[in-house]
Amino acid sequence: MKATKQTVIEVKDLCKTYYMAGGMSQSVLKHISFQIKSGEFVAIMGHSGSGKSTLMNILGCLDRPTSGKYYLQGDLVSLKTDNELAIVRGEKIGFVFQNFNLLMKRSIADNVSMPLIYRGVGEKERYKKAVEMLSVVGLKGYEDRLPTQISGGMQQRVAIARALVNNPSIIFADEPTGNLDTATSDEIMALFTKLNQQGITIVLVTHEEDVADFATRMIKIHDGEKEYDGLRSEYKKEN
Ligand SMILES: Nc1ncnc2c1ncn2[C@@H]1O[C@H](COP(=O)(O)OP(=O)(O)OP(=O)(O)O)[C@@H](O)[C@H]1O
Ligand SMILES: [Mg+2]
Repeated sequence: MKATKQTVIEVKDLCKTYYMAGGMSQSVLKHISFQIKSGEFVAIMGHSGSGKSTLMNILGCLDRPTSGKYYLQGDLVSLKTDNELAIVRGEKIGFVFQNFNLLMKRSIADNVSMPLIYRGVGEKERYKKAVEMLSVVGLKGYEDRLPTQISGGMQQRVAIARALVNNPSIIFADEPTGNLDTATSDEIMALFTKLNQQGITIVLVTHEEDVADFATRMIKIHDGEKEYDGLRSEYKKEN
């Protein structure tokens, strides 16, 4: 009998409203609900301004919803404080950004092992772990270079190595290939596919159809509402 996959992400009736100066407000996420099971590979799509990054930031525990519930591996994270969210981020998830978010004056090894500092891991051990993670992303031997001395695709690999350093079970990536050319983008997607095959749940935002094709499931957001949620292949047949 095939074991039932565990639900790792559950959002229920999630809403996000931004409140701005002068009493203005904008409702950006409207009653979003879905579940993601362990080992899934999900692409979140939708036009610019539809609320994808807002959703990703909540899923990645970088922000909180205005209302609704978010359970991460059964833990209700939507009500946690900033400090508590930082702990959840360090223990359970990795986040990859479009612009890599590397510290340009620090070595590649330092960038990769940065999350370990918060765990109190010593310098030698951090370097060892950085070397190990860099080898996973195909950058063995690059540990002592600066990010300015490698290409954009390599910089994103470094960012992925950094996301992997705490052995997360889920990786969130917000347009990870947005700044890369097609060939490099395919390489990064092949890397995400490899990590997914190793059991890591992947949730990524993309504008690009080719990038979304690497995912099995697609969630489409339209003006803050969930418009489609199902197999990527089914969506392609229908559209
Ligand atoms: N911190 C904020 N304060 C106020 N409004 C915001 C904030 N962040 C985003 N918004 C607004 O929320 C809406 C959704 O933004 P979001 O960044 O989630 O869109 P997106 O789908 O990621 O777009 P893109 O594809 O361009 O990255 C936009 O209208 C945006 O202006
Ligand atoms: Mg965005």
